[in-house]
Amino acid sequence: MSSAIASGIELCPLAAVPDQGFHSVVAVLDGDAETLVLYRDGDQVRAWLNVCPHAGRALDWAPGQFLKSREGHLVCAVHGASFELEGGTCVAGPCKGDALRAVPLRVQDGMVFLG
Ligand code: FES
Repeated sequence: MSSAIASGIELCPLAAVPDQGFHSVVAVLDGDAETLVLYRDGDQVRAWLNVCPHAGRALDWAPGQFLKSREGHLVCAVHGASFELEGGTCVAGPCKGDALRAVPLRVQDGMVFLG
């Protein structure tokens, strides 16, 4: 689980997100604290709400610990739904065709920001 708790737009250092790996942060979105899963691909970082569209559960098996399949998909730890890491669409499992809710990010000066 991340150390970063965002009350504004700064989420975490880019270096906190391992390349081809995941990181979790808590951000305040529309007044509510939400856990996000961040995925880094080189200099790009994408984020989604840490809420599985199948049953609304968190995707991680322990706080901030996410499963990645050999195919390079994010796998929900609850019932095994697999999400591709471009658009967050479920490609296999009980919610195939649904998608994670994307959260827009930007990377600037080695930091990851909301928006
Ligand atoms: S809650 Fe994620 S697959 Fe069921």
